[in-house]
Amino acid sequence: MPDYQRSLGFLFLEKTKLSRKDLWRERENISPAPYFKTYPEAPKHPLPQPQWPPTDLFETLARRRSERIYSPRPLTLELLTLLLYAAQGVTAKAGRYLLRTAPSAGALYPLETYLLIQAVEGLPAGLYHLNLLDWALEELSQGLWGEDLKEAALGQSMCATAPVVVIWSVVPRRTMSKYGSRGMRYIFMDVAHAAQNLLLAAEALGLGACPIGAFLDDEVNELLGLDGIEETVVYLVSVGYPRRR
Ligand SMILES: Cc1cc2nc3c(=O)[nH]c(=O)nc-3n(C[C@H](O)[C@H](O)[C@H](O)COP(=O)(O)O)c2cc1C
Repeated sequence: MPDYQRSLGFLFLEKTKLSRKDLWRERENISPAPYFKTYPEAPKHPLPQPQWPPTDLFETLARRRSERIYSPRPLTLELLTLLLYAAQGVTAKAGRYLLRTAPSAGALYPLETYLLIQAVEGLPAGLYHLNLLDWALEELSQGLWGEDLKEAALGQSMCATAPVVVIWSVVPRRTMSKYGSRGMRYIFMDVAHAAQNLLLAAEALGLGACPIGAFLDDEVNELLGLDGIEETVVYLVSVGYPRRR
């Protein structure tokens, strides 16, 4: 048998295929998790409302490239708010659902957005969590954590030199309580939508960004204080002014 067909990845794809006969089968019973996460004890930094410049989507698509070398120039809070709006901004309400710039399977939004900030005007360097309900950053801890993130990301220096690294975790129960194990596929689609929005916004704003999938999961979880079970890190994107511009 070929290696691929014996891999865990193949087994996952096979076992999470949806077929006609499954449509009537009882779902896995997975209890849900709260829809939002907040850190009520954390100091809160309100984000400005996003004001975007005119941009051309197709120009932006044509120009986007992964950018790994950044100038030390700090980002403004106005740029940061636009990046976060592109990734997870709330654009409409439908009942209890807060619909966002990026789609999400079942509008269940399994993502939590964290930031490692090293150079943003008006914000101390540190680790932050995006509070979507208040459109504010919750300050988890002050300090320069870039070297720690670099170590956890297998030595990738952009983690230590980028003014900002966006870190996405997921709370799988939010999606899996509705879709069972198939929901695990959707979670990764969700994070990719948010990340692509952010990558395009960075390009449109004259910034550079790079998606990062190579990292030691539990080392990044530890940095953020996540248990790695009920909530675990899945994707990183570094952002800054490209050095060449
Ligand atoms: C899921 C995923 C994970 C990635 N992980 C890394 C990474 O850990 N480090 C890195 O330098 N680039 C990473 N990249 C960026 C790719 O290397 C890059 O997208 C590819 O070389 C194509 O180049 P472009 O983005 O400039 O078009 C990743 C891209 C994706 C989609």
